[in-house]
Amino acid sequence: MTTDKPTPESIRGTLAAVRYPGFPRDIVSLGMVADVSIEGDHAVIALRLPGGRTDVPPVLESAVADAIAPTGLRARLVVAAPAAEPPGAPRSGPTPDQPVSLPGVRAVLAVSSAKGGVGKSTVATNLACAFAASGLRTGLLDADVHGPSLPIMMGTDARPLAAGGNRFHPVDRHGVRCISMGFFLDETSPVIWRGPMVAGLLRQFLADCEWGDLDVLVIDLPPGTGDAQLTLAQQVRLAGAVVVTTPQEVALRDVMRGVAMFRQVQVPILGVVENMAGFDCPSCGHHDDVFGRGGGEAVARAAGAPLLVSLPVDPAVRRSGDDGFPVALSDGPLGEGYRRLARTLAGSLRLAGGDVRVADA
Ligand SMILES: Nc1ncnc2c1ncn2[C@@H]1O[C@H](COP(=O)(O)OP(=O)(O)O)[C@@H](O)[C@H]1O
Ligand SMILES: [Mg+2]
Repeated sequence: MTTDKPTPESIRGTLAAVRYPGFPRDIVSLGMVADVSIEGDHAVIALRLPGGRTDVPPVLESAVADAIAPTGLRARLVVAAPAAEPPGAPRSGPTPDQPVSLPGVRAVLAVSSAKGGVGKSTVATNLACAFAASGLRTGLLDADVHGPSLPIMMGTDARPLAAGGNRFHPVDRHGVRCISMGFFLDETSPVIWRGPMVAGLLRQFLADCEWGDLDVLVIDLPPGTGDAQLTLAQQVRLAGAVVVTTPQEVALRDVMRGVAMFRQVQVPILGVVENMAGFDCPSCGHHDDVFGRGGGEAVARAAGAPLLVSLPVDPAVRRSGDDGFPVALSDGPLGEGYRRLARTLAGSLRLAGGDVRVADA
């Protein structure tokens, strides 16, 4: 036991040694510790969980208990919902209701899909590579914290370098500045991330990363049209969104929810990318609509946006994704398809004029 009587400040200092599981940062610098008070022989620690979740990961609970033990106090974790804070209470950490300001970033482009497995991450990584290859300063943020695929698809598992304070540098790969939860995970990391934690972590990815000056920041959104997407769409001013779908997309209701979500946050849908649109047999030339047809057009109609491109099933796409060398970087029709898509979208974003700047959000 230490001899000094513990104070809320000293407890807070102690908590700065508690790493969020699987993340190289501590819970204080992540803005998760809303308040510390001492009641009898207990240190009462209010963790900031914006969604009001009470199921704090048990691993965090025992790490806090271990850290506090030498002070002679027992830890009691409580949930601090932002709305429950008295007005004027000192705020530690980020304010989740304000969009993050990215003054050096000209346009933030979201790549979204109503469901997983349609090739959203494939499109996001290839598009980012095609933007970079065309000379645009490009960033890529993998917001799919449950299934980060950027490290494999871009072919790097480098750790982001610290940039002083809580800040860190993105990882440069294929001319693209990349950030993914995959860069921060280790083999023992929990795969279960609570919703409010996810929102906080993504906010750090946006706000604490040294993106520098970018023409375009591509965000690989989490799949689905639910809270996770909405939260992220509210965290940053999006210049536009691209919706990825497969030809057999029949769940128009899900697509419409996504469209309504982007409308709600006033983000224009710049177009639809139809992926896995048929397979051309390399030996006999026969075309097979493996995944049906018409989905891209139906989604485009529903979204009131153009169908930008139909990309075929090609084993080279999966192989190049697995090899970390996106197909957009190679010659051939698929590479050309992605480069054309990048040109079209760069044009749309420029057409939006000076308004694409997201400074002073
Ligand atoms: N056009 C395509 N041809 C062949 N394989 C593809 C194509 N698009 C995506 N894939 C593969 O399909 C799988 C799922 O794609 P992914 O981009 O991870 O989907 P999502 O991000 O929507 O879950 C990956 O293995 C990827 O390499
Ligand atoms: Mg994905």
